[in-house]
Amino acid sequence: MGLITSFAPAYILTGCLLAVWIFKVFTDYAKLRKFKGPRWTGVSNWPHSLAIFNHNCHEWYGEVNNKYGPIARVAPRVLITSDPDVWMRVNNKPGYKRSEWYYSATRIEYRKDNVFSQTDTAKHDKRRKQMAPGYSGRENFQLEGAVDDRVQDFINLIRTKYVSSGGQVIPMDMATKVQYFTLDVISSVGLGSTFGMLKSDRDINHCLSSMEDGLAIANTALAMGFSWITQAPIIGKFLAVSPKDNTGFGKMMAACFEIVDGRAANSSDKRSDMLASFMRHGLSGDELRSEALEQILAGSDTTASGIRGAFLNIMANPRVYNKLQREIDDAISNGLASKAGEGLVSLAQTKQLPYLQAVIRESLRVWPPVANIFSRDVPPEGDVIDVEGEEVVIPGGVCIGYSAYAMHHSEKIYGKDAKVFRPERWFETDQDKLVPMLKANELTFGHGKYRCLGKPVAEIEIGKLIFELLRNFDMALINPRRPWEVKNYLGLFAISDMWIQVTERGQNFS
Ligand code: HEM
Repeated sequence: MGLITSFAPAYILTGCLLAVWIFKVFTDYAKLRKFKGPRWTGVSNWPHSLAIFNHNCHEWYGEVNNKYGPIARVAPRVLITSDPDVWMRVNNKPGYKRSEWYYSATRIEYRKDNVFSQTDTAKHDKRRKQMAPGYSGRENFQLEGAVDDRVQDFINLIRTKYVSSGGQVIPMDMATKVQYFTLDVISSVGLGSTFGMLKSDRDINHCLSSMEDGLAIANTALAMGFSWITQAPIIGKFLAVSPKDNTGFGKMMAACFEIVDGRAANSSDKRSDMLASFMRHGLSGDELRSEALEQILAGSDTTASGIRGAFLNIMANPRVYNKLQREIDDAISNGLASKAGEGLVSLAQTKQLPYLQAVIRESLRVWPPVANIFSRDVPPEGDVIDVEGEEVVIPGGVCIGYSAYAMHHSEKIYGKDAKVFRPERWFETDQDKLVPMLKANELTFGHGKYRCLGKPVAEIEIGKLIFELLRNFDMALINPRRPWEVKNYLGLFAISDMWIQVTERGQNFS
């Protein structure tokens, strides 16, 4: 009897906590009960967590929207949309804001935000204004020349080490080399000093592998709901990467900070590049370091995924491959692009090649390189949205995110063959169909005040690299049945083992 009375407070406490939990589950469920979604998503986060944990949440989001409609439920308080108009509204309308649960998981440094992870709208807008001129190229005169140098490094690397000929096949992992390329570009244009991975043909300071490890850990933490620990007082400090680490990402961080500090201290440096522009617009100290570091992450995995996707689709489609190479050859012989040995193709020249542009657009559509949920909090008062002619009420206090696969593979927008890689679709359709196609396609780079700041850099990289590699070489997949290994970490793709065989153009194997 005495034992039961001494346990009574514990029973009461457990009962109260249970009652609060049941009440919360019930109110969350009631809020989104009108929206359909997979089983259990109305009462539990686990189906969503499992999809994130299994590294394929982009596919799961796509299936959810295809089955349950353009706005569907993936967790008790989380909706996702495949409707371009809804996503544009969510990004434009005042009152919506970036969700803490997703964006704090993308922080790189302990308790420090950068323009991408910033969830406070006013702070984000201010920072973005300081950075936009540097990213745009308007204040960055070395942008195109710096990319040219790295494209040339890539060509040199292939020519000196990876050209197969006759019976001698030298496999090249395109996935790794492309990431060397994007990291070298972003360090050149962002820091004014290249990492030199292509020249040394190695993952300097294990930067690439540690970036991937970091993303994998952050992804698991997000899936398990533990992201907050990395930002928690005291304990978070021990878990966070630090420039004092002797290896991995910390070492790269230290190298990046050293370059930034050196540039900031040298007032006689008259370069007009990204870093100089950021400083001119008021960034200094920790803010400047954080943004310099962020651009390395934002600018490498993303573009690398886009370039790999483009090459995979080109190599897998001989009709497209031949047609594209013919356009490139014609441009050279017609004088539209420089001849071999007379410099690389310019951005302006790549823009004049309609088939190349269609191939790029189509590959970003079929393989959206960035498939993050980019969750937004709905304003507290809720919103009423027109979805395909029907008024839909979204309650306050929930989140809504982006479903890249469902949006960019939508049969309603792109027709029955939406999943097929077919660049010709961009020339065939009438204006009424083309406008929504273009509008949806532009969303691969985000929208409005959150639109990708690095799009001009990515455009230069993708256009030039495809042109120059196909001008110089022929490429084929070594293992077409398993062309690459891919994992989704927080919406970025870690791609590996994309083995290809490269030959000099025109060389015959007999
Ligand atoms: C094919 C390549 C790329 C794709 C598909 C892509 C996609 C995106 C998307 C969808 C967003 C919106 C994020 C949001 O809504 O919260 C974004 C933001 C951003 N991107 Fe990119 N990106 C690419 C390349 C780059 C490059 C090369 C850089 C750097 C040079 C870069 C820097 C950024 C930054 C700084 C932001 C944050 C903008 C803000 O919060 O205002 N991106 N990107």
